[in-house]
Amino acid sequence: MMGLWPVIFPPQDWTPRENQNGRPEDSIAAAPRRQATRPDSGQPNAQANETPQITQASFEPYRPIERASDGYVQGEACRECHPGNYESWHDSYHRTMTQLADPAIVMGNFDGQTVETSDASYRLLEEDGICWAELPTRILSGNRGPNAGISRVPLVMTTGSHHMQVYWFPLAAGRTLGQFPLVYLKEAERWVPRHSCFLQPPGDPPGIEAGRWNNTCLQCHTTHPKQKLSRDFSFDTDVAEFGISCEACHGPGQAHINYRRQDDGQLRRAEDPIVNPEHLTHEKSSQTCGNCHSITTHLQAETRNEGHAFRPGKELEASRHLFRINERSKAELQRRGQNPEEFFDASFWPDGMVRVSGREFNGLIESPCYQQGEMSCLSCHALHQQTDDQRDTKLWADDQLAMDMRSDQACLQCHNTTDYGPQHTHHATASSGSRCYNCHMPHTTYGLLKAIRSHTVSSPSVQRDDLQAGRPNACNLCHLDQTLQWTADHLAEWWKVEKPGLLPAQQEVAAGAIWTLTGDASIRALVAWHLGWQAAQEVSDADWMSRYLIELLNDPYDAVRYIASRSLKSIPEFASQDYDHLADESQRKMRQAELIKRWNAGSAAGQRGTQPRLLIEAGRISQGTWNSLRKLRDETPIFLDE
Ligand code: HEC
Ligand code: HEC
Ligand code: HEC
Ligand code: HEC
Ligand code: HEC
Ligand code: HEC
Ligand code: HEC
Ligand code: HEC
Repeated sequence: MMGLWPVIFPPQDWTPRENQNGRPEDSIAAAPRRQATRPDSGQPNAQANETPQITQASFEPYRPIERASDGYVQGEACRECHPGNYESWHDSYHRTMTQLADPAIVMGNFDGQTVETSDASYRLLEEDGICWAELPTRILSGNRGPNAGISRVPLVMTTGSHHMQVYWFPLAAGRTLGQFPLVYLKEAERWVPRHSCFLQPPGDPPGIEAGRWNNTCLQCHTTHPKQKLSRDFSFDTDVAEFGISCEACHGPGQAHINYRRQDDGQLRRAEDPIVNPEHLTHEKSSQTCGNCHSITTHLQAETRNEGHAFRPGKELEASRHLFRINERSKAELQRRGQNPEEFFDASFWPDGMVRVSGREFNGLIESPCYQQGEMSCLSCHALHQQTDDQRDTKLWADDQLAMDMRSDQACLQCHNTTDYGPQHTHHATASSGSRCYNCHMPHTTYGLLKAIRSHTVSSPSVQRDDLQAGRPNACNLCHLDQTLQWTADHLAEWWKVEKPGLLPAQQEVAAGAIWTLTGDASIRALVAWHLGWQAAQEVSDADWMSRYLIELLNDPYDAVRYIASRSLKSIPEFASQDYDHLADESQRKMRQAELIKRWNAGSAAGQRGTQPRLLIEAGRISQGTWNSLRKLRDETPIFLDE
């Protein structure tokens, strides 16, 4: 939402110089010189004692720092009295969101390997307890400075620890950080270009996004951030704590600790100033999370420099504008010189349902259960693992759901069990088609290279979802092999949902086929994920799916190819295929052709038959219809702003 910081700082302070041996040597103009111990010799040289070693601390003047202020004290101060809460927080990904890039915690591989991308070569190495990266100097200077040569930068901070990790280096301009162009993808165990992790059209050159951490990421990835923009356009950023700590959800803790320490029975009558979100109204409790899990902007720009005005327990909209598709937000965007249509498209479906990850508060507030009921984030999530929760800590930490909250229980805590049994779902009780979530919170949100459950509770409707919002309906996301017409018929028969008029293709061709061949990149990403979803494979038969996934292996969007290859691996026949979604197009095409051959060979063995809805005839794709649908592919450029 906040644009890329326009100033590019020259990277001179971190560039390597040649020493007498003709080897690169790290030189840091302002920081102490490194101890001249070469890892290959193992021997300190003659001046070893005079030159203090470079450590993480050497970079401290050049990166954001932790500084408790304004009544914030940091989580360590809570540990003594709340060891259990401290421990469960310590297990959470909230804690590890923003960290110093200590070699002991980094996810990425820094063993000296070289990573080649289509536009550059990078080397990643660890020396003296510091993670370093070597990269072409032209990338650091945004193609505006010196073009030749290789620069070495220390990676000093990290973002993320669950799906991927982003790395930052100091620019020696105040505490301003630059973003390293590669990220480490945990699941794939490899370095990939940052832009390949987002749903955006191909061809974006790598950049270092100078100042992006300081003015954007810290807003939601730290506790009590102060970006502190200086007059020279550098930043002097500090935050109360890296990561999302106790006080991000409970408010500043100093007064609470004073209160508890001085408690002589007198104070007991006054109110403890600490906030427990569980004791707030459902709106205010959800706003505590909405502080970060939403799409907002600050009403007063100064609060970004001096510390956010919002505190848990306060009204979020007293200090923020919350974006929704409405006239107020449109006016706010125009006032800021932003194009409302582009902005909305990047984050919302046309009917106002949020479509990107990490913005669940926007989803929740559009739900009838929140508007007419008391649903809050805490209806389903537990931010500390409950004491009687037998699950492995890792299982809890992944999504931080309270016990049983992956099941119908999430809904039946409020809705009547007897009203919503099989007579309501029209599926067998044990069927995946009877799970409330699968029809009312389908995976139509996109982010982090996957489909995620929408946090707006809605009901499936071909008219509202497919025709008006351009969003796949919940039924066909599982019944991928059925047509929209089939779904519309059953919705009418079972739930009396009005039947819309549909085009011939929507009456005759399976929704999964139409979405794969004609959908825009956001639809292709969602369908690629669902073609690997076990529930969909069970009801729609995985056999044909592999052919559609192979089609997506040469999609123009990196993210779509990645998701398709992951889904293809979930189908036993193709489980061991090796395919690189970042290989160049000619290689991808070759690989794709081989896999099509393999698929056709499977057909020769007589598995596939004729399935007109899926454009399969005598075990082969009906090329005519396939190609004519494929030509209709929606090429609208898609940028999703996760
Ligand atoms: C000197 C001990 C002490 C320290 C330090 C301390 N607390 Fe507490 N806290 C208490 C006591 C006592 C209670 C009341 C009994 C209880 O709920 O455990 C309490 C209650 C709470 C509650 C529940 C309030 C409610 O209304 O349900 C929260 C949340 C909390 N503390 C958060 C924190 C945080 C965050 C920190 C660190 C910034 C912190 N505490 C530091 C002693 C302490
Ligand atoms: C408006 C708040 C907000 C801003 C601003 C923001 N993020 Fe996030 N980010 C989130 C939330 C919330 C999640 C968790 C999403 C989820 O789990 O679905 C997240 C998740 C991530 C993850 C995945 C973490 C993991 O462990 O897998 C990465 C990486 C990330 N953000 C990077 C960034 C970067 C880089 C920036 C700055 C350019 C940024 N974010 C700005 C809120 C934000
Ligand atoms: C991301 C938000 C978040 C963070 C971070 C967080 N808490 Fe909590 N905390 C909650 C919520 C929400 C509750 C209500 C119960 C629940 O969801 O587990 C809670 C409950 C509590 C309680 C009340 C007792 C209980 O377990 O219900 C205490 C005490 C507490 N937290 C202390 C801490 C301390 C200390 C830290 C940091 C070490 C911390 N919290 C970090 C959100 C958070
Ligand atoms: C200060 C900002 C902030 C606040 C406040 C906050 N979150 Fe988060 N939350 C994040 C970010 C950033 C991530 C991404 C962390 C990651 O996954 O690495 C995240 C991740 C999560 C996750 C996914 C964890 C995972 O990776 O599986 C859940 C669930 C979540 N938050 C729920 C909540 C709830 C509920 C609240 C309110 C009680 C809350 N958060 C408050 C910023 C925040
Ligand atoms: C009705 C239950 C329910 C409510 C209410 C709810 N969630 Fe969730 N949430 C879930 C479920 C279930 C998942 C797992 C989704 C999945 O696997 O795709 C989840 C996942 C998440 C994730 C992780 C997404 C990912 O996979 O990366 C975040 C972040 C999150 N919720 C935040 C929130 C926040 C913030 C709120 C309140 C604004 C909230 N949730 C309200 C049920 C709920
Ligand atoms: C905290 C309580 C609560 C939770 C949890 C909850 N709901 Fe609701 N829900 C309500 C209330 C109250 C209403 C409005 C009154 C009504 O229609 O029953 C509502 C309305 C609805 C509606 C719309 C009714 C209409 O006429 O438009 C649907 C659909 C729905 N809920 C489904 C679900 C599903 C599915 C879940 C679980 C994912 C769920 N709810 C979880 C309280 C809740
Ligand atoms: C998460 C997966 C899933 C979702 C979502 C789902 N179903 Fe099903 N459906 C199944 C499964 C599994 C069966 C197999 C029989 C059973 O379990 O009842 C089935 C069977 C059926 C059948 C009967 C068998 C057939 O092929 O004729 C119909 C009709 C049907 N579903 C319609 C729907 C409609 C309409 C929706 C949306 C309102 C829907 N389903 C949503 C999984 C799903
Ligand atoms: C197979 C899909 C499917 C499943 C599974 C499903 N529902 Fe529904 N639900 C629907 C449809 C379709 C509607 C009606 C939509 C409409 O009227 O536009 C609906 C409507 C509702 C409503 C609105 C009021 C009403 O009764 O019409 C509520 C509340 C609701 N469902 C709750 C639940 C709960 C709770 C569960 C899990 C126990 C559940 N649903 C499981 C498809 C499903």
